[in-house]
Amino acid sequence: MAKVTVVGSINMDMVTSTSVFPKQGETVKGESFITMPGGKGANQAVAAARLGAEVNIIGRVGDDPFGKILLDGLVEEGIDVSNVEPVTGCSTGIASIILSDQDNRIIVTSGANDYVTVDFINQFEEVLAGSDIVVLQLEIPLDAVERTLEICNKHKTKVILNPAPAERIPTEVMALATYITPNETEYDMLFQDHSETPDHSLIVTEGKAGVSWHEHGVKKHIAGHRVKAVDTTGAGDTFNGALAASLAKGLDLSQSISYANAAAALSVQTLGAQSGMPTNDQVIQQLEREKESL
Ligand code: RIB
Ligand code: NA
Repeated sequence: MAKVTVVGSINMDMVTSTSVFPKQGETVKGESFITMPGGKGANQAVAAARLGAEVNIIGRVGDDPFGKILLDGLVEEGIDVSNVEPVTGCSTGIASIILSDQDNRIIVTSGANDYVTVDFINQFEEVLAGSDIVVLQLEIPLDAVERTLEICNKHKTKVILNPAPAERIPTEVMALATYITPNETEYDMLFQDHSETPDHSLIVTEGKAGVSWHEHGVKKHIAGHRVKAVDTTGAGDTFNGALAASLAKGLDLSQSISYANAAAALSVQTLGAQSGMPTNDQVIQQLEREKESL
């Protein structure tokens, strides 16, 4: 079975839907509120698990009720959480999400995710070495991301580095990743100096416009699927989780990108980061529907 390990964040998303954003000093009435499981790491893990991969997540939650709820949720998805260690006296990561028809705005408070340290990562060399692919994002400390990349390199384990949320990372660190998957904002931040572009491994997600990437020096692009978006939170995570599941199964890069592009399109049609994440059958159906409609 395809083995995917996700090293990353686990958050509770506090989602407020509103038709208007408050201006500075202003209070507005919201429309609804819901708590939902999130965090880029957990989202990517769930995406890969729904698609049939054997998923292990390495991360940390707080010792509060949110931590327990989130771990139970991951277990229900069939994810191995034996490498998630609660942090005593610390809050679970929280994302305050304000959702409107136009867009979403998010404030992330790391809490326990900050305790994914280099020492913590060092315990999991064997798990990383035994994985088909490892997925990383930037909601845990950067030195832990770097350490994970070093261990994976040592054992020739492939790594998808999803550089989100946008943060500058040293070129040497990026060079250790097999695939780097920024969105357009993250791409602009990371590759202001385009001479440094490591084009063999760069996959840029462009929201509803689709995905662009380089393969053997040739620039490629696929369009996004035409779907009605309800909530784009977690679309990037779905893409990355699906990409990992597909590459781990042994599909090639183009096939895997096309598969992940379809999975992400399905995910945006439901409220919440994880609720709309599809199964393998749903992705296959979506790919067929899109082909027929062209
Ligand atoms: O990528 C979406 C995720 O980012 C949300 O689930 C939220 O937790 C934030 O971390
Ligand atoms: Na969604």
